[in-house]
Parts: sequence; structure tokens; C-alpha cells
Amino acid sequence: MRFGHFDDSAREYVITTPRTPFPWINYLGSEGFFGLISHMGSGYSFYRDARLRRLTRYRYNSVPNEQGGRFFYIQENGDYWTPSYAPVKAELDAFECRHGLGYTRITGQRKGLEAELLFMVPRGFNAEVHQVTLRNKSNTTRTFKLFSFVEFCLWNAHDDATNLQRNLSTGEVEVEGSTIYHKTEYRERRNHFAFYHVNAPVAGFDTDRESFVGLYNHLGEPDVVKNGASKNSVAHGWAPVASHCLEVTLAPGAERKFVFTLGYIENPVAEKWQKPGVINKRRAQAMIEAFSKPEQVDAALQGLRSHWTELLSRYTVQSSDEKLNRMVNIWNPYQCVVTFHMSRSASYFETGIGRGMGFRDSNQDLLGFVHLLPDLARQRIIDIASTQFADGSAYHQYQPLTKRGNNDIGSGFNDDPMWLILGVAAYIKETGDYGILDESVPFDNDEKNTASLMEHLTRSFEHVLNNLGPHGLPLIGRADWNDCLNLNCFSETPDESYQTTGNRTGRTAESVFIAGMFCHIGPEYAALCDKKGQADKAQRARREIAKMEKVVLEHGWDGDWFLRAYDFFGNKVGSKECEDGKIFIEPQGYCVMAGIGKDSGQALKALDAVKERLDTPYGIVLVNPAYTRYHVELGEISSYPPGYKENAGIFCHNNPWIMIAETVVRRPERAFEYYKKITPAYIEDISEVHKMEPYVYSQMIAGKDAVKPGEAKNSWLTGTAAWNFVAVSQHLLGVRPDYDGLIVDPCLPAEVPQFTISRWWRGTTYVIQVKNSGKGGQPKLVVDGKPVTGNRVPYSAKGGTVHVECTV
Ligand code: BGC
Ligand code: NOJ
Repeated sequence: MRFGHFDDSAREYVITTPRTPFPWINYLGSEGFFGLISHMGSGYSFYRDARLRRLTRYRYNSVPNEQGGRFFYIQENGDYWTPSYAPVKAELDAFECRHGLGYTRITGQRKGLEAELLFMVPRGFNAEVHQVTLRNKSNTTRTFKLFSFVEFCLWNAHDDATNLQRNLSTGEVEVEGSTIYHKTEYRERRNHFAFYHVNAPVAGFDTDRESFVGLYNHLGEPDVVKNGASKNSVAHGWAPVASHCLEVTLAPGAERKFVFTLGYIENPVAEKWQKPGVINKRRAQAMIEAFSKPEQVDAALQGLRSHWTELLSRYTVQSSDEKLNRMVNIWNPYQCVVTFHMSRSASYFETGIGRGMGFRDSNQDLLGFVHLLPDLARQRIIDIASTQFADGSAYHQYQPLTKRGNNDIGSGFNDDPMWLILGVAAYIKETGDYGILDESVPFDNDEKNTASLMEHLTRSFEHVLNNLGPHGLPLIGRADWNDCLNLNCFSETPDESYQTTGNRTGRTAESVFIAGMFCHIGPEYAALCDKKGQADKAQRARREIAKMEKVVLEHGWDGDWFLRAYDFFGNKVGSKECEDGKIFIEPQGYCVMAGIGKDSGQALKALDAVKERLDTPYGIVLVNPAYTRYHVELGEISSYPPGYKENAGIFCHNNPWIMIAETVVRRPERAFEYYKKITPAYIEDISEVHKMEPYVYSQMIAGKDAVKPGEAKNSWLTGTAAWNFVAVSQHLLGVRPDYDGLIVDPCLPAEVPQFTISRWWRGTTYVIQVKNSGKGGQPKLVVDGKPVTGNRVPYSAKGGTVHVECTV
């Protein structure tokens, strides 16, 4: 069942009923100001940091769901409604929500009145613009009132939700004409304030929540709206809000637009005040001027669209499969950019008050947006590398505002160092900017202890070698990619973190997955050593990788598939010998991606085992059989009910590793089948089962052992976005940058018989026309009329367009 449809030419998903199986959200903002917005207008806004600079309030985990948002109420002779359906939930005669790239448009109609709400963050501004267009579609003149409503958060979202003894006394506002200023704590330590403005004279306003809503009412029936009159309340403490009241009369067929601006302003300390106690509003006024007319809103929307048109033109495909086209051309890269901005901070599953930025997550996210935002990727790499320790290990997370490593989550996740190599390699392949390797980068942000980025990569690589276990496999440390495989944790008490508690510091628990990474990512390090003229280091690296490959085949092989790990006691994890958890997805993907066992047939065997034991109609589960009881020696993975999260959920992040692995063994059918199983556009028809947005990936879909297989959770902020983009664009469609050329190596089944890819790469556009037999054979390339050997289009510095014909 569907709850809407794709509109590809507008690059929008159109939701046609408010009753989606979960709030389906979108993100506003592409620079410093961001908002989350659901199809009913709920969500919140913040400046840069969702925890420390939260503008509007949102209550998590509540019923009803819309506990905070930007709401517009229409009141006409006692009848009142909200065009976004919620929070009033008066029946609408028509409803539509269009989530576009960086904007959302919600239209509701009731009894001949139509209200269209456009929400966006214009480029170049720290503000959300809400344009309300009112249309009289009836044949009588209509006179009614429009009330706006946002509720302010007292900046620190965590404190706001918890420290009531203080913050119920701190709220302060100023009202001047049609602008409501939120200035809590501005008097002391803060130099920032927010405002909510409308470009028309108001009939009244409210800034105190209790006055607007009523103490025992709710947002669905606020006192002021019910009574049709503002109270002109001025908040002192309690809960500051901003509501305008506008009186509107519309002749039949007439239309009227109002522009509301929710802005964030920082004033230099010397310019904070206009006079004692009164904020200096000069910067706010300038922002207000910028959006005082609908034409300015149109221009801003146009600007936003052009921005996305330019970004998305860098990789496009035209094929007969419209779902493939829409994911590759629009939604997958869009989600990648959102993960770049948000990391794992703010979604309807991440509260914005929790996690910082992951060392591992950020490196992987980079794979999905480096071709779109290379300069930002460069900065991100330097930021990440600056938190690395001198021995090559890393803090697991760092804080976006300070860019410092975060000790709360600690370090010792032994896969982290390798991801840095992968991120840097992807950046250099994209840009050819080897200069980044010479950048001087601190260890642990200590400017007295710096080294070149290349040296950081050496430390990453050596960290694996310096931490080998009894079988010669890499030690897992706190955990590897699977942060729920806590082999040194032994947690028996409920109130401690699996990820930071380590009761045993043994050097026995080993990870076959990190070994696979070492063999897959290690060659990139060797290649970079060669490029830097460090041939000795390159040779040593290749020797160590070859050695590791042998170790994996000897100690990491279980007979029919790759083992997952050895635990603290040296027992196998992910083996036939185990009671539960006999086979894991991660080592199968990563070892085959590295080509381990390709010649011996073990790679094929491992992938066949995945098919047999892990594949389901909804995707590939992480492990099988699911753990049915808690294993103290394994940790968090066995704490989840079977079928969820790491305990045999379909963890969509690692499914693409299997897709890529299938292309390594040249089985296009399987690769594409796995792709279609988890890719949102292909499962739009089962939205009632899947529940999450059909235009973006979710982190997890419940697995076959769950009560409701196929039900997804944790949409938007997941490494799934980047990895699926890598899988589809670089391995299925097969176009990927290498150091000195663009590899064209498609691996798709016959159901996609021909397609054209346009890839902008280092200033030149490569237009690649593919004829595909679907048999997974090697490609034959003709570049600008001349055949080339192999699958690499040489780098062309000429700019313009290079034409490539590819026959598979
Ligand atoms: C989750 C993981 C997550 C980890 C670290 C665990 O509870 O299941 O998916 O990576 O916490 O935040
Ligand atoms: C989510 C984390 O963000 C990611 O780093 C991790 O690898 C997965 N969970 C798997 O456990």
C-alpha cells in the first residue's frame, strides 16, 4: 500500500494522506540553519548544533506525535482547523505534502478555503521561511483569522527538557510590531537570539504558552484559536512561544500570501544592546527585509533548486528502470548530503541531544557525498584525523562544535583507524588532490604534536599490525564496525554502557571483519605510499596484506563461510560450532570485497551461504540464527530481541557490502536483487509494512526472526545511504573514480539492458553509454571513438565532454 507517489520531474515525494504509518519527514537547510519537518509540519529547528542551539521545542516519544512544530491555524466563525491536518485534526477536503530537496510544501483544503504552506531555509540565511498562501476556492467572500505558532526551546535542548527548576524562570521575549523576539539568557552569557516575524500588520500576538494554549488544553485546541482572539501575552519565564494573529478577507477566487521568518541572529558582544535591556535588532531587521515580499521567497526557492540541480548533475543515470533513476539521481545523494550535515544527531530516532560525530561513521558518510561537496569533505577529513591518537587509534566520536574527541564514548574500537584510509583514498580519487597528504594534522587536537596526514594513515595501518591476536588476526578492542559485538565487556549490570565498559583487557578477542577491511582498504594505503614515492612502505604494506589474507583463509574460515571473530576465551563467533549466531554478514561482505578466496572458490561459497542462511524477502539479516538469550561474553548484540537491530535485523548498512561482493564474483542478478530488496523506491508498495519514508533508507528493517518482519526503523541518519550509493553508482552501474582514470565496469542483469551515465569528474563530463548483456562479463570500452584496453577511461584534463561507449 502506498501513501503517496514520486514526482520525479519536480524531485519531490508527494504524500497524499496525513495518515502515513509514521511521521514522514524532510530536512530544511544546507549550511548552518537546519530544520526537521514532518508531513504534518511537526519537528524543530536549530542552528548548527541540535543540542546547544535549538530554536524550537520538540517533545520526544510522545502521543500525539506532533509535539512541536510550525503550526498555522485557521479560525472562521468558530470553526478552526490546521492545513497540515495536525494538530487540530479537523477533517480536510484535500491534503497534500510535497517533500522536496531542502523544502516542504503542505497544502490543506477545507470548506472551500485552501492553505498552502511552504517551508524552506534559503541559502545564505540563518532562517526558516514559512510562506502561507491562502486561496478562496468558494463563491462567497470569506473572513477568517490565521494564527501562527512556534514554541521556543531555551537553547540547550537537553537542559530544556530536564532542568525545569531553573528554566521555568528564565524565558524572556520582546515584541515589536509583527516581530516576536526570543531572548532567553541573552542578558548574560548568550549573544544570540531568535525571532519570528510576519510581513503584515498583526491583529494580536501571544508569547506565553499557557495564555495561548490554556493550562489544561493541548495544541489541538488552543484557547486563543478557539476563541478567535489573541491575548497579547508577554512571557516571563514558563514557556515562551510566538504566535501572530492575522485578519484576512478573501473575495471568491482571491489569494493572499504571508511570509513568516524564523531567524537566528548572533550579535558581536559590543553590539548586543540597543539600550539597556533591549536587544540590538539591526541584523534581524536586515533578514526581515530580505523576506518581506513573496517574490523574494520565489527567488530563494529558485536558488535552492539551482543549488540542487548543480549538485545532482554530477552523477546521473538514464535507464528504463525509473526506480533506479530516481534513487541514483535524486533521493540517495540527497540522503547522503543530509547524513553529511546531521551525522547521527537529529532525526525522529536521534534526539539531537545525544551522540556526537562518529569517527567511523563520518569517514563512511564521506563516500556518499565526496563527489558533491569535495571541499567540505576535505575539511571533514582534517577534522576527523585531528582527533586521532599518535598510536593510530582513535576516539570513537567527536563533538561537532568543538571538533574534539569525546571521552564519554572512549576509544579502542579497532576498526576506526582503517576507515580513515578509506575516506582519504575516496577523496583523492575524486579530486586528485594529493596535497592533502602533506597537510600537517595534530594528534588528539594537540598542536604541539602534529604529523602529515600521510603519516596519520601510516599510523592507522600500523595500528592494525601492532594489535594482532593469537591467530594473527586483528584484535577487536571494544568492538569493530558492529559496536554491539562487545567481546571484552562482560556486562552484568543494567546501568552501564556496553560500549565503554570493559571488564577484561585481554588481548585475545580477534575480528575477522577487521582482517577483511585490512585486505580491502590496505591496498589503498599501499597505492598512496607509491604515489608519495615511499616504495618500501608500499611493499611492506602489500606483504602484510598478503600475509593477512593467508591468516584469514587459515584461521578465519569456517568451512563454508568466513568466521566473525574469536571471543575473549578464544572461542569462535559466527561458526557452525556456535549454538546461535552461526554466520554473520560482515566478514562475508568485507572479505569477498577484498577478493579473499576469489580464486579458491571460497568467496563464492561464502556468498552462497549468505543467500541460503541470511537472505529474506526484505533484505539480508546480520546474523543467523538470532541470539535467543543474553551472552555475557558477546555483549549488546545478544541483548536485543531476535530480529531487531544487530541481533539478526536487516542492518541495511552492510547489505551493500554483499551487493559489491556479488559484483566481485560477477553475479549481477544477485547483486541487483539484493539492491532492490532494501532500496526504498522499490518497496514503496509495501509502505504499510515498512512504515518509514519510501524515499530514504532506514538503518534497520526487522529480520525474519522478528514479530513483524519487514518493518523498518531509524530512517535517514545511517551509513546505509553512503554505502548504497557506493554500491549502485560505483559497482552496479560501475562508474568509479580511480587515482588516474575513471573505471567503467558495470555489473547489472539483463533487465537493465542499456543505460547512459553522466559523470562529472575533475572538471570533465564523461557521458557513458552502456549496452549490457547482463552476463556479468568484462566491459569493452571505446573512448571518444578509440578502443581502450581494460576498464579504465584515462583521466582527461581537457574539460568539456568525453564520450564513452561501453559494451558488457
Ligand atoms: C546501537 C548501535 C549503535 C551503538 C552506538 C547501539 O545501542 O544498537 O547501532 O551504533 O549503540 O551508539
Ligand atoms: C550504528 C553506528 O553508527 C555504526 O557505527 C555501527 O557500525 C552500526 N551501528 C553497527 O553496529
